Amino acid sequence: MDHFLYKDGHLHAEDVPLSRIAAEVGTPVYVYSAATLKRHFGLFRQALDWTDHLVCFAVKSNSNLAVLKLMGDLGAGMDVVSGGEYARAKAAGVPGERIVFSGVGKTAPEMRMAIEGGIRQFNIESEPEMRALSALAAGMGASVPVAIRVNPDVDAKTHEKIATGKSENKFGIPISRAIEVYAEAASLPGLQVVGIDVHIGSQLTDLKPFRAAYVKVADLTRALRAEGHQITRLDLGGGLGIPYRRDNNSPPLPIEYGEVIREAVGDLGCEIEIEPGRNIVGNAGVLLSQVIYVKKGEDRDFLIVDAAMNDLLRPAMYGAHHDIVPVVEPDLGAGVHPYDVVGPICESGDTFQKAAELPEIAAGGLIAFRSAGAYGAVMASEYNSRPLVPEVLVQGDHFAVIRPRPTYEEMLGRDSIPEWL
Ligand code: LLP
Repeated sequence: MDHFLYKDGHLHAEDVPLSRIAAEVGTPVYVYSAATLKRHFGLFRQALDWTDHLVCFAVKSNSNLAVLKLMGDLGAGMDVVSGGEYARAKAAGVPGERIVFSGVGKTAPEMRMAIEGGIRQFNIESEPEMRALSALAAGMGASVPVAIRVNPDVDAKTHEKIATGKSENKFGIPISRAIEVYAEAASLPGLQVVGIDVHIGSQLTDLKPFRAAYVKVADLTRALRAEGHQITRLDLGGGLGIPYRRDNNSPPLPIEYGEVIREAVGDLGCEIEIEPGRNIVGNAGVLLSQVIYVKKGEDRDFLIVDAAMNDLLRPAMYGAHHDIVPVVEPDLGAGVHPYDVVGPICESGDTFQKAAELPEIAAGGLIAFRSAGAYGAVMASEYNSRPLVPEVLVQGDHFAVIRPRPTYEEMLGRDSIPEWL
């Protein structure tokens, strides 16, 4: 459930009409609902309340400082994958003890930054990374907590670009070699082995792959303990999917996911970490856009809107579907008209949806792309020199611009022309 509902015939974010945000901030613009964020975070907490746990928000899904601050104030930890994300988590007031650092290519400066600023744990993805972190930490006189990410060779049954748990993927070390790698980790200076990490992919709509991966992690925990390792923490990754189509079966709920975790690893006495991103923020955001032209084609009509693939890349990149809804509620029984909804960018890939069933809509009309809070603004660019899309956060009956739209001057001001030109 989210807080984007029609009230008095107009789509609202909580108690704020989206048309008001469009009038005051302009379009395209991302709009997030604080109440939805809080609700979704609470559901994960509740799902794990049977054990000691930390819900680490996957910062890559939405890294706006206001969103991170809201999550951090609720007690969330953060899962970061770059120095930039680490800096954002810290700037949002999240203490280092609640930040885990994931990612296959952490550089020495990034590792140093996190050691100096404080870190809950590094999730190590390869032996070269493990040795580099050991040397760096030992050189700094530090001993850093680490979990090693294992690749369980489980098919997550999701889009190939966001599956990460098969042996063909670049992530983690093969689970078959874990005993050997943990033995080396335990012998290295500067590292304190505390746990196991796993993440098999994103937008999973079935619990079976999670269960398969977590059972393998439980077996590995026992095997490592038998070798004398102190495994006290399991980081079980993110990946629980969301309903992108309102008329479809919904993916499993956080509470059901928590039950799978309890069944698979609940008897081990480990502290549990999870790293959800999409499930917390995906349906807490919409991309609001205005129709520029309605263009009659030979065999179809196009809605040319002011949002484009640079603002919301997912349809072009993954063939992803986002429900498109009109901001003015259609009359009951009003007919629908198929439109190809496209952006202004000079590529045919800049198509959000073909034959979207919408009520008749005229130039100037407002539409909202639903489920756009995760991997929306964070993946936006200024392609075609379209200023970076702004973001707004709504809470109750008020809203704030949490990232303004840059002016052309600001956009151009980031470039410089060398004096020898
Ligand atoms: N932890 C790790 C190590 C990850 O790699 C990811 C996502 C997450 C947690 C969070 O997964 P979530 O709960 O959000 O599914 N841009 C793509 C999604 C890429 C996900 C990458 N890793 C998209 O728009 O669908």
